[in-house]
Amino acid sequence: MSKVAVVGAGTMGNGIAHVFGQHGWDVVLIDVSEAALAAGLATIRKSVERLEKKGAISHQLAADTLGRIKTSKSLDTAKGSQIVVEAATENPGIKFEIFTALSRLLPPDTVLASNTSSISISEIAKHTNGPDKVIGMHFMNPVPVMKLVEVIRGQETSSDTVKQTVEIVRDLGKTPVEVNDAPGFVSNRVLMPMINEAIFCVQDGIATAAGVDEVMKLGMNHPLGPLALADLIGLDVCLAILKVLQDGLDAHKYQPAPLLEKMVAQGQLGRKSGQGFYAYRD
Ligand SMILES: NC(=O)c1ccc[n+]([C@@H]2O[C@H](COP(=O)([O-])OP(=O)(O)OC[C@H]3O[C@@H](n4cnc5c(N)ncnc54)[C@H](O)[C@@H]3O)[C@@H](O)[C@H]2O)c1
Repeated sequence: MSKVAVVGAGTMGNGIAHVFGQHGWDVVLIDVSEAALAAGLATIRKSVERLEKKGAISHQLAADTLGRIKTSKSLDTAKGSQIVVEAATENPGIKFEIFTALSRLLPPDTVLASNTSSISISEIAKHTNGPDKVIGMHFMNPVPVMKLVEVIRGQETSSDTVKQTVEIVRDLGKTPVEVNDAPGFVSNRVLMPMINEAIFCVQDGIATAAGVDEVMKLGMNHPLGPLALADLIGLDVCLAILKVLQDGLDAHKYQPAPLLEKMVAQGQLGRKSGQGFYAYRD
């Protein structure tokens, strides 16, 4: 049986743990916060039960999926994993520390993947003693639904690590797209300027959030408007990504809308906080 450790039990980490568990992997979901682990597990349970109710998975698979996922507060429990997927807070310092610890703890053949939206994979790799095993594995939100995984090759990532990661992505029923390491990769370099402009439209009083989203849904055939999508991603995550694009590419072009900064400072983070451009009850 293959084992994966997922570090970070938030929006992305619990989705990643769910998908690995559903595809037969033993999973340890690790977080520094007990509350995040409990909330992550509750989200997985809800989402597995929803799939079972819809008939998308059998009762047996639902039970097996939940049975395969354990939680822990200690990185030590990552031992024995074939791959670690880090999905902790989008903060370089936090990620560097986690990767340094993991590379000390695990044998050199373990793949160390980061789900970062924008932080350089080559920079993360510099904080390990095996940069050839470090790779980006960028799942999309919501993980159980979305097919794409951007597979990001850092400067020193080996071809073998890319091959193993691509195989694992396919094994999870998802589609890998290989890209080179650059700020925001492809997905966020294209997406975040659009979300930022949508926020400027609200800030400048050009339209309401719902109005901007309707334009993009009905006019551009987007399934979800940019502001509903920003709420889903997390406004703090959007802000962090824009800052990485600013630092790595162009400070003026990627300047976050002041309204975004204000909402994040006020704790309006989108779905996860119950309030963003829209209000969420559940
Ligand atoms: N939210 C999205 O739509 C999205 C999409 C793709 C990628 N990502 C990326 O995924 C990663 C996680 O994002 P998220 O939205 O799930 O964030 P989140 O805020 O929902 O969850 C982050 C979790 O990491 C935990 N954490 C912080 N420090 C830790 C540590 N040292 N060890 C273990 N756990 C730690 C926190 O307690 C929290 O539970 C980020 O790198 C983000 O850029 C996010």
